[in-house]
Amino acid sequence: MRHFLEVDDLSRPELERVLDLASMAEPPRVLAGKGMALIFEKPSARTRNSMEMAVVQLGGHPVYIQADEVGLDTRESVEDVTNAMAGFHAAVGARVFEHSQVERMAAVDRVPVVNLLSDEGHPMQALADLLTMHREFGALEGRSVAYVGDANNVARSLAIGAALCGMTFRIASPGGYTFPDRDLDRIRQHAEPEVFDRPEDAIAGADAVYADTWTSMGQEAEAEQRRRDFEGFQVDERMMGYASAGAIFLHCLPAHRGEEVSDDVLDGAQSRIWVQAANRMHAARGLLAWLMGEVKS
Ligand code: CP
Ligand code: NVA
Repeated sequence: MRHFLEVDDLSRPELERVLDLASMAEPPRVLAGKGMALIFEKPSARTRNSMEMAVVQLGGHPVYIQADEVGLDTRESVEDVTNAMAGFHAAVGARVFEHSQVERMAAVDRVPVVNLLSDEGHPMQALADLLTMHREFGALEGRSVAYVGDANNVARSLAIGAALCGMTFRIASPGGYTFPDRDLDRIRQHAEPEVFDRPEDAIAGADAVYADTWTSMGQEAEAEQRRRDFEGFQVDERMMGYASAGAIFLHCLPAHRGEEVSDDVLDGAQSRIWVQAANRMHAARGLLAWLMGEVKS
């Protein structure tokens, strides 16, 4: 039984296979007659829709479930919900506040579990990010991506995924918003990340520049403080000027225009945000096809 809670739950060859499967012209019907439960504790536009459509394209039926309906650890334990879902579905995906909840689902080990974003990681996003850069650049080995902002769930999964693919991962964050040692150790298992204080230094010569919100879901009470703390970390045209010629701009979205990124960068010629968002569906299809055992047949 395989689960996908973080990008490096896949080996590098497995990750490359998933990216290949994401681009298959005729998706295998590995979910024909089967379902996938998609449990959300937080809002979503891209993740819900990309997962649902990926399941449909593989011949299956997605069931969207608001976490309140099943009452994770209130109406029923996480383990009991997972056991029930395993009786109906070929896979379970969950977007949760606490990463331990997806770990507990995976520990039941009766159905593959996919992390649809937790406080620790957003591996489905990272798969789409890698697919986007792969389609843009070809081979990822030796390319660089510079992440500017909060060392959050999106940054962590991107760092792990980029390192796993032989890319250089660079990050610039204000003091207090950097990766904890635990995350750095995890990334270092694949490649040493390059950590900077100034965004200009992280961006210098990079092939891709990446931004995410300064205030993640669940941190809304800190938004004012964070706006102050992240001053000087907006990716604008001047910042993009430090990147390599032909560099692209990526953002997992939703974006907060005028905060972590300026309108002109988000809507400019270097931006790939809409193809990146669409790639969420293709990457999800690749991951689910692999998880359903296409690769082993
Ligand atoms: N990038 C992303 O996960 O978007 P949603 O929160 O809309 O799913
Ligand atoms: N870091 C953001 C990503 C949203 C897709 C959050 O967790 O809210």
